[in-house]
Amino acid sequence: MTRTFTRRSFLFALTGTIAGTAGASILATRKQYAQVIDITVERFSFTPSEFRVKAGAPVEIRLRSDDTDHGFRILGTDVNVTIPKRGKGVATVTFQPPSAGRYVFECSKLCGAGHSFMRGTLIAE
Ligand code: CUA
Repeated sequence: MTRTFTRRSFLFALTGTIAGTAGASILATRKQYAQVIDITVERFSFTPSEFRVKAGAPVEIRLRSDDTDHGFRILGTDVNVTIPKRGKGVATVTFQPPSAGRYVFECSKLCGAGHSFMRGTLIAE
């Protein structure tokens, strides 16, 4: 009687551990993609042009143009992608702010008279 009880307890403990581990790994995967920002781009602005993310965690930035080709470059980083013109898809880039602070981004593809005004700020905190 005592022996059976012990064995069952052990089995329960084992099952609990396995379930717990699987649950934790699913949670970790979700966390990694928890931050997603959709940005609409057009002459001559990013919408939103300012947004907050968590420092030290990856953020997926999806950029869609409402008119012509644009670019997305985060100053001081190697992030620089071309955003295809309207109807040609979404440019996706993953960025992990190394520390808290303000990261300025700008259009990196000449797109008209207001090109140099196309700017925004990513705030990591
Ligand atoms: Cu948009 Cu240059």
